[in-house]
Amino acid sequence: MRNKATIELDDLPKGIQRSRALPDARLGALWDSIILDERLKSQLLSQAVLNFTLRGKVDRSVIPLHGVILLVGPPGTGKTSLARGLAHRTAESFPGGTFRLLEVEPHTLTSSAMGKTQRAVSDLFSQSIAEAAMAGPTIVLLDEVETLAADRSKMSLEANPIDIHRATDAVLVQLDLLADQHPNLLFVATSNFPQAVDSAFTSRCDLVMPIPLPDRDACSRILKDCLTGLSRTYPAIGKLASAPQFDRCAGECVGLDGRAIRKMVANALASSPQTAMNPGQVTIEDIFNAARAAKASRLAGGKEK
Ligand SMILES: Nc1ncnc2c1ncn2[C@@H]1O[C@H](COP(=O)(O)OP(=O)(O)O)[C@@H](O)[C@H]1O
Ligand SMILES: [Mg+2]
Repeated sequence: MRNKATIELDDLPKGIQRSRALPDARLGALWDSIILDERLKSQLLSQAVLNFTLRGKVDRSVIPLHGVILLVGPPGTGKTSLARGLAHRTAESFPGGTFRLLEVEPHTLTSSAMGKTQRAVSDLFSQSIAEAAMAGPTIVLLDEVETLAADRSKMSLEANPIDIHRATDAVLVQLDLLADQHPNLLFVATSNFPQAVDSAFTSRCDLVMPIPLPDRDACSRILKDCLTGLSRTYPAIGKLASAPQFDRCAGECVGLDGRAIRKMVANALASSPQTAMNPGQVTIEDIFNAARAAKASRLAGGKEK
């Protein structure tokens, strides 16, 4: 059934993948599911809230906020989930507000025919996003922003068409215009490759927050959360979280990102055709072996680079 609060792809302007009314409890669950130092979460939320309390009231010559937050870190560390969750938590901080979250899909813009990317980017920002911001407080997710704001200094014109170069210029021009005209707008951008993001974009960010790989304690909590979640379907899995070897498993996860830890558990459930048929039979040894294999393949991958 179509959810009225969510506008589907067909009805959306080019470049916007999804538009939804906030707050949205599902995004709140996402925010809670990402295990991260509470101080970082609190800093992130405070910066986003300040965007909406301060910018409409204090002149940009005093505090030059652009309304852009950038999350950078290795793939699978929860950046996209945090960005969506942040939108929800920010909206929730202003009861009675009519916040919306727009999700931009940069690839649909840059896959346009030569010469059209710049135009597509300009239209997206100056029309679709500006219109949303006029209708009410708006948060825009710019996922994997390096696609849109690619570092112009590192671009070879051969490998990267001049079109992308112009797209980066267009993003910067539009960000400046929007920052001036729409204090009710916040961009939350993510990047797996901060070195690929143009420094003029980074310098416009009000906060650049590195999202780290989970440390020992976070690995343990992610693994526990994953097993507890599975135990809702397969009650026998619940006891693995308190098994004596659990700590060794968690230790073996250090060096993996959050997504890889959860996928590793899926690999353990698929450690034999019998376990795959009856996932509740998974053992703590299966998990340990899967964690070790995931780490080994990660290390092998790392050496090749
Ligand atoms: N710190 C974390 N705590 C718990 N789960 C995590 C964490 N990081 C990643 N995950 C898991 O990995 C999934 C993918 O995360 P995602 O937000 O797409 O990461 P990114 O955008 O950094 O690649 C999440 O849905 C979550 O299940
Ligand atoms: Mg992501």
